[in-house]
Order: sequence, then structure tokens, then C-alpha cells
Amino acid sequence: MNTTALIGAQWGDEGKGKIIDILARKADYVVRATGGSNAGHTVVSGGNTYKLHLIPSGILYPDTFNIIGNGVVLDPKVVLEEMDALAALGVKFDKLMIDLRAHIVMPYHKEIDELSEKAKGKNAIGTTKRGIGPCYADKCDRIGIRLVDLLDPKVFAEKLKRNVDFKNKLITAVYGGEPLDFNEIYAEYCAYAKRLQPYACDTGAVLYDAIKADKRVIFEGAQGTLLDLDSGTYPFVTSSHPITGGFCAGAGVGPTAIKECIGIAKSYTTRVGAGPFPTELNDEVGAHLLNVGHEFGTTTGRARRCGWLDAVILRLAVRINGLTGLVINKLDTLTGLKKLKIATHYDYNGKLIDCFPADISMLADCKPVYEEFDGWTEDISSCKKFEELPEAAQAYIRAIERFTETPVKMIGVGADRDQNIYR
Ligand code: IMP
Repeated sequence: MNTTALIGAQWGDEGKGKIIDILARKADYVVRATGGSNAGHTVVSGGNTYKLHLIPSGILYPDTFNIIGNGVVLDPKVVLEEMDALAALGVKFDKLMIDLRAHIVMPYHKEIDELSEKAKGKNAIGTTKRGIGPCYADKCDRIGIRLVDLLDPKVFAEKLKRNVDFKNKLITAVYGGEPLDFNEIYAEYCAYAKRLQPYACDTGAVLYDAIKADKRVIFEGAQGTLLDLDSGTYPFVTSSHPITGGFCAGAGVGPTAIKECIGIAKSYTTRVGAGPFPTELNDEVGAHLLNVGHEFGTTTGRARRCGWLDAVILRLAVRINGLTGLVINKLDTLTGLKKLKIATHYDYNGKLIDCFPADISMLADCKPVYEEFDGWTEDISSCKKFEELPEAAQAYIRAIERFTETPVKMIGVGADRDQNIYR
């Protein structure tokens, strides 16, 4: 079997796009299976910067099939705009497939996301306002509209009517917002349906055959482990399962179909949105990570919160995802910092904790217990071998392996897809 899952091991934004792009070069299939246009991958290649939200990263390679699985919530407006922008750069879509079972993000989902965040006040999640939560909520409530429904004008009209009537009551009576117009949405989405029709199919069946034929399949993670609806920092999470298990449900494959599970982490930690973050730094080191690491969101442009690497989080990621290896990205961002720290445990009211707590109010009171390391000043951005790294950088990577009991298989030392050390 020739299948690899790439998973965010932190709170998302771990630089997955770059790694996925490297592996996509040799992949037969690249699969997105969870999340929606809340994700943002930046891929730097051949002097061009590509910003991808829904289209799998393999799209840059003409021989690679790209699948958007049933677990993705598809915003047709976003995906078509993205395709138009990529087409202008010469990208082709003859190998793009979108699963018929994928749920469609509707205008009322985005409206409700916005209104519900406002209504939550200081308890707001800090969502991307892309309608992700409300769309998954409709999926669970079994009132959602799937691609297969959108493609049938009669079924679509009927389902949309029921939804718009109900959502308008919610929008006006509960949130005090403006009602949406059925006819407008119907016309807009029927036009999207026409454009999406050529890509619609049963992608689970396609993947099953591909895996049986020993094709090289990459499962492209979105978001990260701590944003998982079950295992993350609930309620400050996304509404899907950005973990290995999420690939099974969201791509329609069995767990035994995934051979390698690689967790991607940065050499430090970032988070966007609200919620506790034990190793967060609101000092000059935090400012260094923000500015040197260019930590601004691809989807929303928001400045990310930055902090030291947290091995408690990485151990959680190893456990839930069954990680067989780690990629540590952006090691070069740490260059120039005199001392480095990694949280190995938390101190909760004097008690040493090595497991990520379920209770976020407890997490908010956890103080990181750090191990300190020497920094380095040498430019590492052109290092190609582990041995070329300064001794202090090597020690930092070895410490990550020790704290997580997981091998670091690749180290990123710059934004370009060639700036990596393989081990
Ligand atoms: P939602 O996914 O838009 O509902 O947002 C829920 C939480 O997940 C918020 O804290 C978002 O900032 C976070 N989030 C969603 N997608 C991403 C991502 O791709 N990277 C980082 N954070 C994300």
C-alpha cells in the first residue's frame, strides 16, 4: 500500500501546504476529506505563490488526480473562484473530482456563522465566518443539501425552499438579521451546479480502486489536531475531524487503507481564534515569531497568536492520529533567539500533568513546564543535511523526538519547497 496521511499536529497553519505540495509531485491522487474554505494553504512554487482553500494541492501537477471527498463542506462560489484564478495561471482541471455526497455551504450558513458569533459576544469562537459550523450542523441535523441534490434542480428547489423558510425564521426572529431571498439563491446556485457537474462522482469508489491498484495516494490534512471537534480544545474547535480518523469518514476509505500518518508541526506553536494557549508569548519572543515567521492567516489575514513549542500537544497528536513520523517546519524562524524552550508538561495547581486536559478551564490554569535549549545564530536556510545544522539546532530536533517518542523525518528551513532536510 502506498498511502500517506498528512495531518496538522497543532492548531492548524503548520505549513502543511508546502509538504503536501512536495509529496503531491509524486502522487497519483491527492485527497481533501475534511473542512471547507476555512482552510488556507499557501504553496510557493516556481516563483509563484498559490493560495488554495478547497482545491487539493496536487492540482499544480497535470498527471495527478485531485479529489474533494464527501467529508468536505463545499462552498461552490469559493471553489469556482479558486478554479478561475488558477486557470488564469494555466492550471487544468480535467483530473479534479468532487464527491456527490459533499455538503454544500449555502448563503444562510455564512449569515448564521456571522450572526451567531456576534450573539456569543465574549464567548465567540473566533470562527473564519465561512459557514463551516452551520453547514456541518445541518449535515448532522439531516437537513443539509449535498452536491447530488444541487445537481437535480427539482430536488434542490424543494430542499432549498424548506431550508430558506426555516433559516429566515432563525435569522430574523432569533438573531434580528435580514431574511434571504429564495429565488436569488436558487438562480445563483443552479448556475454553480452547471459548472460543477463535470467534476461530480463517487470519489470513494474511485479511491478504493486506486488503493487496490497500489496507486500513490496522499490524504491532505486541513486545520489541525487541536481543532478537532472531539479531541481538540472544545468549544474552540472547528466542526469537523481534521485527524487521521477524519480521512476515513471524509474520504470513504477504511482505516487499514492508510499506511503512513505524518504529523506536521512548526518548531513553535501558533493559534488563531479564541481559547486557552498555555505556551503563548506576549513578549518580544512572541513578536519575533510573528514577524520572522510571517504568522498572518491565509484565509482571514488575522495575526496568529505565537508561543513556544508544546510537546504535550504533540504527544496528543501522536496518540490520536497514530503518527508514524513528524515534520518540523520553520526551524529557521527560531534563528537568532538566544534561548529556546519546549513545554514538556503542565503544572496544574502544583500537580505535574503530561496529558492534554479535556477541561479547557483547567487548561487555562495550566502553566507550562519548560526545558530550555541554547539557540543558534547561523543562517540554516540552505542546510540540506541534518549534520549541517548547528549543534544547538540538532539538539532541539532530538529533544522533540525524545519528548514525543516519534521520529522527525523532515525539517523545513525555509518557505520554498526545496528548503528541507530529509532524514
Ligand atoms: P471555523 O472552522 O471557521 O468554524 O472556525 C473554528 C475555529 O477553527 C476558529 O478558532 C478558527 O480560527 C479555527 N480554524 C479554522 N480553520 C483553520 C485553519 O485552517 N487554520 C487555523 N485555524 C483554523
